[in-house]
Amino acid sequence: MTKAKLSFLHFVVVFMVAQICHGSRSRFPSSIKVHKHLNLLNKAPVKSIKSPDGDTIDCVHIAHQPAFDHPILKNHTIKTRPSYYPVWIKDENIMMNASKSFTQLWHSNGKCPKGTIPIRRTKKEDMLRASSLKSYMRKNSVARQSSMDPEYVDVTKNHEYATASTYGVFYGAKATFNLWNPRVQTPDEFSLGQLWITNGPHMDVNTIEVGWQVYPYLYGDNNTRLFIYWTSDGYQTTGCYNLGCPGFIQTNNEIVLGGTLSPTSQVDGSQYEMNILVWKDGKEGDWWMQFEETLVGYWPASLYTLLRDNASDVEFGGEVINLKLDGLHTTTEMGSGYFPQEGAGKACYIKNIQTVDESNTLRTPEDMYIYHPNMSCYDIVLGVNDNSGSQFFYGGPGRNPNCP
Ligand SMILES: *[C@@H]1O[C@H](CO)[C@@H](O)[C@H](O)[C@H]1NC(C)=O
Ligand SMILES: *[C@@H]1O[C@H](CO)[C@@H](O)[C@H](O)[C@H]1NC(C)=O
Ligand SMILES: *[C@@H]1O[C@H](CO)[C@@H](O)[C@H](O)[C@H]1NC(C)=O
Ligand SMILES: *[C@@H]1O[C@H](CO)[C@@H](O)[C@H](O)[C@H]1NC(C)=O
Ligand SMILES: *[C@@H]1O[C@H](CO)[C@@H](O)[C@H](O)[C@H]1NC(C)=O
Repeated sequence: MTKAKLSFLHFVVVFMVAQICHGSRSRFPSSIKVHKHLNLLNKAPVKSIKSPDGDTIDCVHIAHQPAFDHPILKNHTIKTRPSYYPVWIKDENIMMNASKSFTQLWHSNGKCPKGTIPIRRTKKEDMLRASSLKSYMRKNSVARQSSMDPEYVDVTKNHEYATASTYGVFYGAKATFNLWNPRVQTPDEFSLGQLWITNGPHMDVNTIEVGWQVYPYLYGDNNTRLFIYWTSDGYQTTGCYNLGCPGFIQTNNEIVLGGTLSPTSQVDGSQYEMNILVWKDGKEGDWWMQFEETLVGYWPASLYTLLRDNASDVEFGGEVINLKLDGLHTTTEMGSGYFPQEGAGKACYIKNIQTVDESNTLRTPEDMYIYHPNMSCYDIVLGVNDNSGSQFFYGGPGRNPNCP
């Protein structure tokens, strides 16, 4: 176990966050601030690795990771593994095919040593794309402080969904995500497939989110990337993507959050998938995340208010932003860009859907409720395939004759 030490430097860094958060409201970051914010995001690496996709991966000492800039995590003792894994009961409906050995692109050029974690370096261009420093790495693209703030914009404004949800008392979720590389019309729009583990009403919602996304604004390219997200106050002042703000504690030296997932699926060709499991450690209360067979890290229970005990809602599916740039619906695709009715080989799916119950056991949900308000643009179709457990197809092309 490593004890995270709060150095004077950390203090300076926390102070700088406060400065940035309460500083200028100008839309364009001044270069001094960009520089400061970059220093904040990019920790001094032990080693750096150049990835073929253009990313630089910094191997940062595990105790110097961004999480420990969070005031409530100052004295946090890093855990190396959870106390419990969820119990998996053999389910005839679920076929656990041996997962393909899945590597991230940067592995071809090296690995991070033990005792470090890989962090995708934030480049100056990344920061300059952001309309404000405060909003960079945030799910909303407009800076907001509170619901009383005139700048407040509903996080779901312009967002369109095709999802399936289950309600109850949950301690985790698991799913296999079919990976695609949907077209995104403009850099400020995204297309993603993810799971949401949430508790609380709209304005206070606490979330744990994991999935894949194409989001040029955030990454500077159209690659399909692994992401995580969290908020503990309805996306108002807390939370961010990946390790973009203090919160998630990474324990693994192989998986880069925000890293490119490659290859992706082809229409009527090879299908690629990733397995994600998130569960609450019943003893310590932390929410752990596993990617394929690899334990990545955890969201400490202390980050949350309403997710401290349990989740009330587990949701899976797709989300896009529709900015209607030319007055028409966006052509940004969801999933594979095909409607779910097209089925296997063409439409994108999420399968092997399970939730973790109070006895720490993974179970296939009995009821899933679908949400597809823009179904002529993006849709979802539930299905139970004998070999795939609870699953669905989702997605769509966006703009089309029925979705002008
Ligand atoms: C961290 O530990 C120091 C020294 O024991 C203590 O003064 C401080 O209040 C602790 N901070 C938190 C956030 O628990
Ligand atoms: C991303 O995709 C869009 C739409 O297909 C294209 O216009 C743009 O040039 C691509 N951007 C990059 C960085 O490849
Ligand atoms: C689940 O969490 C909510 C919100 O924190 C709490 O009010 C409720 O008592 C919890 N339920 C159980 C069964 O722990
Ligand atoms: C999508 O659905 C939402 C919620 O019903 C609605 O407000 C929005 O106008 C719809 N957008 C389009 C393009 O149909
Ligand atoms: C698992 O593998 C078998 C044999 O390769 C294949 O027929 C089946 O479709 C696969 N099932 C899933 C759920 O991927």
